[in-house]
Formats: sequence, C-alpha cells, structure tokens
Amino acid sequence: MKNIQELKTLLKYIPAYKIPLMLGIGAIVMNQAFALLSPRFIKYAIDSLNPESIHDTHGELPGIGFLVVKIVQYLNQLEVNARMMGYAVAIIISVIIAGIFRYWMRQTIIVTSRKIEYDLRNDFFAHLQRMSMSFFQKYSTGDLMARATNDLNSIRALIGPAVMYSFNTVLTFIFVLSVMILISLKLTLLVLITVPLVILVVYTAMQWIYKGHLRVQEKFSEISTLSQENLSGIRVIKAFVREDSEIQRFEKLNREYIDENMFLVKVEGAVFPLVGMLLGMSTLLGIWYGGKLVVAGEISLGNLVAFNTYLVTLSWPVISIGWVLSLIQRGSASMARLNRIFEEIPEIHDPTSVYRPVVLTARMIAEKRVPQNGKKGTATVIKDAFQPLDRIRGDIEFRDVSFGYVAGKPVLKNINLRIRQGQTVAIVGYTGAGKTSLVNLIPRLYDVSQGQLRIDGVDVRNIPLRTLRKHIGFVSQEPFLFSTTLGTNIAYGLDQWEMDDVLWASDIAQLKTDVDRFPHQFETILGERGITLSGGQKQRATIARALIRRPSILILDDALSSVDTYTEELILAQLRGVMAERTCLIISHRISTIKDADLIIVLDEGQIVEQGTHDSLIAMDGIYADLHQKQLLREELEL
Ligand code: UTP
Ligand code: MG
Repeated sequence: MKNIQELKTLLKYIPAYKIPLMLGIGAIVMNQAFALLSPRFIKYAIDSLNPESIHDTHGELPGIGFLVVKIVQYLNQLEVNARMMGYAVAIIISVIIAGIFRYWMRQTIIVTSRKIEYDLRNDFFAHLQRMSMSFFQKYSTGDLMARATNDLNSIRALIGPAVMYSFNTVLTFIFVLSVMILISLKLTLLVLITVPLVILVVYTAMQWIYKGHLRVQEKFSEISTLSQENLSGIRVIKAFVREDSEIQRFEKLNREYIDENMFLVKVEGAVFPLVGMLLGMSTLLGIWYGGKLVVAGEISLGNLVAFNTYLVTLSWPVISIGWVLSLIQRGSASMARLNRIFEEIPEIHDPTSVYRPVVLTARMIAEKRVPQNGKKGTATVIKDAFQPLDRIRGDIEFRDVSFGYVAGKPVLKNINLRIRQGQTVAIVGYTGAGKTSLVNLIPRLYDVSQGQLRIDGVDVRNIPLRTLRKHIGFVSQEPFLFSTTLGTNIAYGLDQWEMDDVLWASDIAQLKTDVDRFPHQFETILGERGITLSGGQKQRATIARALIRRPSILILDDALSSVDTYTEELILAQLRGVMAERTCLIISHRISTIKDADLIIVLDEGQIVEQGTHDSLIAMDGIYADLHQKQLLREELEL
C-alpha cells in the first residue's frame, strides 16, 4: 500500500458531495440497525416456545433493544399461532426496511463516485489541453489514453465500492460484533479465528484475478489489432497468398487468449468454495461450542440460532475486507499515475503581467506619472502608464534567437531577422534546415532557448497567449482536420461565425469548386465516417481555416505543396489583396511560390545564410540560385 498517500488528490472533490455522502453513511447506519432486528425476533420466537429461557435478554442493545422488548412483550401475550405469525411479520418488515436503506446507500454513494469520476475526467482533459508541445513529446497518446480510461476506472471503483464497503464493514463489525459479544464473548472470539484467513485468501485471489485480467486484456487487444490489420490489408494478404498462415497466426493468438481466460476461471472457481469452507468452519465451531453453552444454560437456544444468523451476516463484510484492500491498492496505483500527469506544469504559460508600456506622453512625463522602478506607491502610476495589449499589428523581430528541442542540440542558431507589418517574407532551405522550427516560435508553440522574439516591440513571453494566438493564422505542414463537417472545420478558430465567413475564406483558398462537388457541400462530414479529402483539398481547407480569423500574421508552412501551380498562382494572387496590410510568412520548397516575396530568407543548418529578393539572390549564386537552377531543370524535363 505504498501509494496510499497519492489518494490525497481525491480529497478536494469530496466537499462538493458532502450531503449525499453523509446521507449515504446515514443509510448504512440505518441499514445495519434494521438488519440487526430480524435475528433478534428469531431468537424471541424460538425462546417463546420454551418458558425457561424466555427471560434470556443477552444480546439486547440499549435503544433498539427497548423497541424490541416492547414488541416482544406484546407478541408473547398472544396464543402460539398468532404469536408465530406476528414474529414472521416483524422479521419481514425489518428485512424490508433494511433493504430500503441498502438501496439508498447504493444510490447515494455509487452515484457520488460516478460524479467524482466525471469531475476527475473533466479535470484531466482540461489539464491535457493546457499542456505545451514538449509534454506531448514526453507522453505518448496511447499512454495518456490508458490513464484516462483504465486508471480512471480503477479510481472510480475505489471511490464507490471501496468507500461504501469500508463503511459498511466497519459498521457491521461494530453493530453485529457488539451484539454477538453481548450474547457470548467466548463464543464470539472462537468463531472469529477464521477471519484473518478469509481476508488473506480473498486478497491474494483478487491480486491474481487482477493480473489475469490484465493479461486477458492484452491478448484481446492483440487479437483485435490482428483482425483489424487483416481486414484492411486483405488485398496484400490475397496478393501474396498468405491466407493460411494468417489463419494459423490467428489460431495461436486465440488459443493464448482462451488459456488466459481459463486461468481466471480456475482462480475464481477456487476462491468461493475456499472462503465458503472457512466460513463453514466458523459456523461449525459456533454450533459445537454454542451447543455446549446452551446445555450449560449460559445462553438460550434462541440466542444460539440468532448468533449463527449474525455470523452469516458477518461473512460478506469479512470477504469484502480482502476485496476492498485490493481495490485500494489498484486505485491508489492508478491515482499515482494520474498524479504524475497533474503535476506537470505547462512550460509555456501566460505572462504574470499582461500590460505593456504605452508611449509616454509629454504630459505624463511632466506630471511625473512615469513608472518609477522599485519605489513604493508607484503601482497606480504604472497601471496608468501601461495598457493591456489586445491587438497585434504584425511586426516581428528575432533578436539573436537560438532554439533547440533538447538542451545542447541547437536547431536554430543566432537568428536575427526583422519583418515589418504588411511584408511577405519567404523562408526556403533544404529539408531539416529549421524552417518549421523557426515559425513555431511565433505563436509560442515553443519558446526560444536564447535571445528574444519580439512582436510589435514586445517580447512574446509578455503577450497573453490568447491575444497572441488569436491574431496568428497558422497553416501547419501536416494538415489536420477534425471528423466533423467541412464548414465547422473551416470556422474552427471562431467562437461565432456566419456562412459568409466560410464562403469568403474558401473563395480565397480556391476551395469552392471542390466543395460544389461534395455530397452536402460545407455540411459534408470529413474523416473516417465521412469523405476523405485529397492532399491538396486538405491543404486548402486548412488555409481557409487560418484565413477566416483575418489574422495579423499568416504563416503558411509548406501549405501549397500539394496544390498544382495554376491553383497556387490563384491563391497567392488573392492573398496579396487580403494580406496587403498584414504580415505573411511563407515556407516553401517551390521557388514559384515565393519568388514575388518582399524578402526571401535562406536557412541552412539552423542559420540564415542568404537573404534578399529573388533577383538579388539569383545574382548571389548561392544555395537559392542552386535550388532555382534545379527546379528549372526539372520543369524542362517534365515538359
Ligand atoms: P524542422 O522541422 O524545423 O525542419 O527541423 P524543416 O526545415 O521544417 O524541414 P522540412 O523542409 O519541413 O522537411 C529542424 C531540425 O529539428 C529537428 C529535426 O530533426 C531537424 O533536424 N526536430 C524537429 C526535432 O528534433 N524535434 C522536433 O519535434 C522537430
Ligand atoms: Mg518543416
């Protein structure tokens, strides 16, 4: 139980459910109280047949006992038939009331555990959303999915059954044991000697069952992966005549799966008889020694029967101790795995101060309202002199920027670059030169390792993330679209949108003619359960998605690579109109895409090695001229 302290995380969820939890615990108490009654009535029913033992009141709890005594006094006045009928009715009523409270206990506690699971899952998802890119490189998708599903399930089992049965067990022990002790202390101690054994057996069996379940699940996922691959790769299988060997592969896996299941069946099959035998031994001891006590006149026959009924009542709580222990162990191990994720803090976060200096007016200087660093009482002055940065013009400046994904391995080295609002800047370079890494810094997908990246003269780390990203239209190298309608995908970055916006953006991205051919135009569902777009269609949809926000800075990372040169020409011409006042960064391997840019940057091994316009770079006869030459050659060959 080394992980037990991990469960502290759950404490903060409890206060919201104080009332249902209290009601649940109340229901457990009431359930126990009424469950105690029926064996009492059994005792009095039996003892009423034997005038000698009628006055044995061992096992009467104060309080409830008073009620029982009143009912018993009334029933014992009746003649034998009516009396027995009366006892039967009393037993049935107490069992029914106990059952109602039992239902209530489940309703309140199990429902609460579902709600806490819901809260925890929401928190986990929200936490993942806040994480930076580096986090997602550290944890794989499959790992995070497993934590969000399997681990969350074992935590729920911990909150629900574990909490419920712990309370139930503790209360049963207190109530039932005290009654049993009141009947006979010696007898109670004797029958309890098997309890530790039962707990041990159940706990061990649960451990085996759990491990067995894990192996069954693993085998099952292997089987489903194999079937899925086989079905989707059926052409390859047929083409290479591999049907028989695939059948053999499947048979082998299937056999292993069944074997693992058989192990589970054996363990589960053994544990119940074993526990039953141990509990049976207790009953045996109870009857043997209890019988002697009855003969000796220490307890009445009715009380011996009642005692054995209590012993049966105790068996489920005893079994549940072992079960709950294993639930706690699993739940706390899972909680530990979730805690490791909750402990991660986003590397890239909002600045602590979201104000920037406005230009100081002569009057502010005259009135000495200029912020005075470090002096007391300047807070209000500073607040006046700074205003929230809520717009971005699109002036970008790299000041001696170096960057690496891992320490000591720079991918970008000493980048100095000034891009003015409204400029179109192109970035070229061989593959792996660092182009994507450079533009990733602008919306702070990553932070610089050294130097400074300034937008509108402010370090990006001092601009609120929302503001920064809201004004950047980013088309990444690998287009990604969600499995929803095309229209929703294009309007993804907007909180509210009109169809006109979607039409406008798709028009510039040259998507209109394609969309007209789709079955439901912009309502067409994309992805697995809808249509699949071609590479070029995907790229243009993501361009439309970036444009619809009318960004101050537009970044196209190789976003026209799958579009033919004619369509590319149309898109660029339209962009020039829309982006006249805005800043545009275009990464491309194709010279035709970028030759008209105001400035072309050539990156090589993370450094800017050439920059200028198309003509000046051709004249320079360096990497750019080389790239250009090769493309001209290829075009000629293609012609
Ligand atoms: P880039 O992804 O910046 O190169 O990787 P690029 O210029 O855009 O290349 P193309 O044209 O799209 O192919 C630059 C270097 O950074 C490393 C890559 O291995 C490459 O050497 N890198 C990239 C990482 O180490 N981690 C990443 O997550 C991405
Ligand atoms: Mg790239």
